[in-house]
Amino acid sequence: LVIRGSAFTAQDEYHVQPLNDCLVCVDAAGWIERVLLPADDDYDRVLANARQHHRLRALAEDEYLLPGLIDLHVHAPQWPQAGLALDRPLADWLNVYTFPLEARFSDQVFAGKVYQDFVKTLLAHGTTTAMMFGTIHVDANMVLADECRRQGLRGYVGQVTMDNPEQTPDYYRDHSAEDALAASEQFIQRVQASPDPDSLVTPVITPRFVPSCTDAALAGLGRLAAKYDLPIQSHVSESNWESQYAIDRFGMHDAEVLNRFGLLTSRAVMAHGTQLTGRDMQLLRKQQTAIAHCPISNIYFGNGVLPVHQLLAMGNRVGLGSDISGGYTPSLYHNIRQAVKSSRMLTDGVDSRRPAAQRGVADSQITAATAFYLATAGGAQALNLAAGRIAVGCRADLQVVRAQRMWKRMSDADVFERLMYQTEAADIKGVYVNGHLVYEN
Ligand code: GUN
Ligand code: FE
Repeated sequence: LVIRGSAFTAQDEYHVQPLNDCLVCVDAAGWIERVLLPADDDYDRVLANARQHHRLRALAEDEYLLPGLIDLHVHAPQWPQAGLALDRPLADWLNVYTFPLEARFSDQVFAGKVYQDFVKTLLAHGTTTAMMFGTIHVDANMVLADECRRQGLRGYVGQVTMDNPEQTPDYYRDHSAEDALAASEQFIQRVQASPDPDSLVTPVITPRFVPSCTDAALAGLGRLAAKYDLPIQSHVSESNWESQYAIDRFGMHDAEVLNRFGLLTSRAVMAHGTQLTGRDMQLLRKQQTAIAHCPISNIYFGNGVLPVHQLLAMGNRVGLGSDISGGYTPSLYHNIRQAVKSSRMLTDGVDSRRPAAQRGVADSQITAATAFYLATAGGAQALNLAAGRIAVGCRADLQVVRAQRMWKRMSDADVFERLMYQTEAADIKGVYVNGHLVYEN
């Protein structure tokens, strides 16, 4: 496959690289093997060859090629309640809405209906990789893993662990730490035993969050992550309630608790982090544990803004998550916009009526380029995945996006900014994972 067109890819945390009229050459195994610009010697030859062998996809004038987006934190079973109950505080939302819904995934037929629609919807929004929480049900989580492979989504799928009787309801709980650990191990082995020629699905160690797990479960999950060398996902310092809970039970912050149990590794992704202290952030950086920034969800449940710019400047790994259904939309484009807007709320300003009073946090604002980095290259780095960029050696996980209303003459930077602010699912014309066309509109 050779795709010809103009592209954008993250150059680093702060800059986007335009690639005008480039050729992206994908090998048979789904890797990007060459990226050629018109000035390159081989360009005409490669283009003619691709045409001759009918391997060329030439983008239309108003279409652009971007890396597929990486959703670092999303709850697949919460898809049926996206956009509901966002005015409830976290603990209340979990108990009244979320746990009853997740409990329904003991029914595999229900799971099949939801997961089929959910995976399709992610692809239709330009998401090519998703790190997902499932439920406590091994069979339903296998349905999700199979659906990822069937539709071609790169999926990191987590068997959720929640065994603490004090923080979970009788009808939706692992009945002991041993049961929970056995279920996790069974899920890992079943995923690893399933045929997966494109290496699309990876099992993930998934303690729901500190309050929902006993010490024995947390310790056992740390051991399982090490034994199978697997990624880990959880929530960290999301809300005041959850942060205080860890202090009351352990006398330390939840980040330190997770670290003590071997759950902050270079393969771990922790969602939210709006209440992390400077010391917690340093701990995450030292462990190379990534933070999934969920800017829409953080408004509702974290009531806070993650200081993304400060974290990037410190050298922390950060990506972007939709947190369905703490966030109401599967669109990472909407989360890119919210990441920029929230950072503008956090940044400093002078109070005009009290000129001596500063508010906010100095130097906090981020641009669309940085938010795009989080949703692409930053997410890939968090997963230690060679993807998220249009560059040699990366997986060919790509999307073709149509730009709207190009009547005005626009620079590359203008086109890029417009794409970040105005792209909706209807504008996403095609999605490739591993070089396969997995969605077309
Ligand atoms: N903390 C524990 N479980 C959840 C969940 O499902 N969503 C969010 N946003 N936070 C959580
Ligand atoms: Fe979450």
